[in-house]
Amino acid sequence: MSGTAEPATGQAGNESRRGSFSSRRVFIMAAIGSAVGLGNIWRFPYVAYENGGGAFVVPYLLALLCAGLPLLLLDYALGHRYRGSAPLSFARLRRGAEGLGWWQVAICCVIAVYYAAVLAWAVRYTFFSLDQAWGDDPEAFFFGDFLQAGDVEVTADVVPGVLVPLLIVWGAVLLVMALGVQRGIGVTSLVFIPVLVLSFVVLVVRALFLPGAAAGLDALFTPDWGALGSASVWAAAVGQIFFSLSVGFGIMITYASYVNRREDMVGSGFVVGFSNSSFELLAGIGVFAALGFMAQAQDVAVGEVATDGIGLAFIAFPTIISEAPGGALIGVLFFGSLVIAGITSLISVIEVVISAVRDKLDTARLTATLAVVVPIALVSLVLFSTTSGIYVLDVVDHFVNQYGIVVVALVAMLVVAWALRALPGLGEHLNVHGRPRVGPTWRVLTSVIAPLGLVIVLVLALKDDLEAPYEDYPTWLLLTFGWLMVVALPLVGFLLARLPWRAGTHLDGAPPGSDPTAPLPATEGGPR
Ligand code: ALA
Repeated sequence: MSGTAEPATGQAGNESRRGSFSSRRVFIMAAIGSAVGLGNIWRFPYVAYENGGGAFVVPYLLALLCAGLPLLLLDYALGHRYRGSAPLSFARLRRGAEGLGWWQVAICCVIAVYYAAVLAWAVRYTFFSLDQAWGDDPEAFFFGDFLQAGDVEVTADVVPGVLVPLLIVWGAVLLVMALGVQRGIGVTSLVFIPVLVLSFVVLVVRALFLPGAAAGLDALFTPDWGALGSASVWAAAVGQIFFSLSVGFGIMITYASYVNRREDMVGSGFVVGFSNSSFELLAGIGVFAALGFMAQAQDVAVGEVATDGIGLAFIAFPTIISEAPGGALIGVLFFGSLVIAGITSLISVIEVVISAVRDKLDTARLTATLAVVVPIALVSLVLFSTTSGIYVLDVVDHFVNQYGIVVVALVAMLVVAWALRALPGLGEHLNVHGRPRVGPTWRVLTSVIAPLGLVIVLVLALKDDLEAPYEDYPTWLLLTFGWLMVVALPLVGFLLARLPWRAGTHLDGAPPGSDPTAPLPATEGGPR
């Protein structure tokens, strides 16, 4: 276990104590594991369909190239140069910026709490697929028999069918995180990402052979060029790329800090970005082929069965599984893929918190893992294994994505680019070993174009939420788990930044020896 290794001394000692990925390949797998998640499988297909179909490729690719990849490289540069968790990297960039890192940590705590709940449902549904336990009415089964959701209220009535898989998910997370950066996160990604790709390819091929699949693909890919005139379509593309790539909320800063200082971070960023988008495209094909089958079976238009999120995974897919020949296989592949994609994303979200705690308090890996995972798991169990779980989850998911992640990323970009004028230095750092080289184009994209894109996303989202209460939920629910939560996150972040660092933490600028041109210490594969 990396954290329980004998303490070493000096900079190399700090790095070996923090943990590291053993190679660039492991880092890339872990970063793809983080990026490919629920956002790819259940969000992308519908977002593309709703926002111009085939024409969506234009805003999507522009958002990837102009906002997603530049931001990914910014995260990589911060973590790789300053070699710390999000708070430590920001503190080393400038002491006053540390709060940004803790704000990201707070967001990750919230995401982890509900992300685990969805995974728990997917675990249960993998088994339900075998005998199609949802019967004739998957919707009534999901909300009634499975979640036992009643009126919109917060209750303490435990639902054992959710509690048990949720305990299993948290047990698995605890194990992976306790094993450390390489043996836990690295090995999990190395093993499960190929399994995920393989099972998803089998699922897509199976879906393509279902009757009606062509109509589904037609609905997805038929371009509606007129949609490109709508600002909300461009905002949807930026929002999708952003959540899907896991940029802006501390994950990529943390992972980059575990990478050998002589690696090419730019090339790695391109590999991760394009792999993530390829998986998204694959998911779009598979999901719409299956929806095409469902539409044909029910003799309705594809548009009537197309949906995303909870509706797609836990209502539409069970219907497809019940109606399709060999449905059990489709079910196991679909829900199994959701579980794998989700767990490799969840561990990246949790690592942001563990890494920050370890950097700040100098705790051993196991201690930090227990101190982080147990409380988050308890909150998750209390909130989501009760009959009120579904409503809380929906509200938290909406608000933390729309306002938590987008706002912190926007502020971080503006601070780094304009207040601290750190982009030239970070670009130079990327260019030492990175290819292609980043230059003025990257700086303009990161400091002007990407922030503008985020402002548009934010304004449109605010307009929607202020015009009508989200999903018509009661005000108290939206206030408590929505607005108050997103306002509390930066406050918590900046309060945590006031806690003192462990004695001897190097804070001003990049740590000694972090220069990527310097000779490598033995721990990084340099001469012994
Ligand atoms: N990037 C992760 C996802 O797509 C968080 O779900």
